[in-house]
Amino acid sequence: MEARTVADSRSVLVHWMGPTDANSAGFVHGGVVMKLIDEVSGLAAVRHSHQRVVTAGADRMTFQQPIHVGQLVTLHASVNAAWNTSMEVGVRVLAENPRTGEVLHTNTAYLTMDDEGRPARVPALRTETSDELRREAEAQLRRTNRLAERDQILAQRGSER
Ligand SMILES: CC(C)(COP(=O)(O)OP(=O)(O)OC[C@H]1O[C@@H](n2cnc3c(N)ncnc32)[C@H](O)[C@@H]1OP(=O)(O)O)[C@@H](O)C(=O)NCCC(=O)NCCS
Repeated sequence: MEARTVADSRSVLVHWMGPTDANSAGFVHGGVVMKLIDEVSGLAAVRHSHQRVVTAGADRMTFQQPIHVGQLVTLHASVNAAWNTSMEVGVRVLAENPRTGEVLHTNTAYLTMDDEGRPARVPALRTETSDELRREAEAQLRRTNRLAERDQILAQRGSER
């Protein structure tokens, strides 16, 4: 299977926030943003793997700034790292006030997407720029920590029995 570049998976989703996305004070619900993050992550993972994928987990989902009704939200996603059957996708969310042109970075998220059903290997990732190499190394750190935490919890449960 041929390795694929980060650019091959790059995906962008644009959504105008309307009244049904928000509470009565005009603040967009966190779940609306999470759904869009999940969608754009799926797009990036399918573009990388050319397979059907499922969301296996979310390692981080930050909400740095509120998003308001009327703002134009753009989600940028690409694969940060690829392992056996799973990939980490990084997502950066920007909210623009279309009347003033002001753009704010509102969210960052890292999701693990896994091959759906029959486990199949995903293509390796070809990292080219220094940013891509840094993101891959940070994704590897998150995976190492995630697996170590899982082992620690299982060991703790075992010793409690
Ligand atoms: C994600 C899923 C496929 C993993 O299946 P599993 O039998 O636990 O598989 P494994 O333990 O062999 O793990 C497979 C890969 O997923 C990764 N993975 C499993 N659980 C994970 C989690 N919670 N977070 C991040 N990665 C995870 C593993 O690290 C492994 O990666 P690798 O193959 O690249 O080394 C399975 O749990 C699943 O189908 N979950 C439901 C997903 C779904 O429907 N999402 C949408 C929710 S509405």
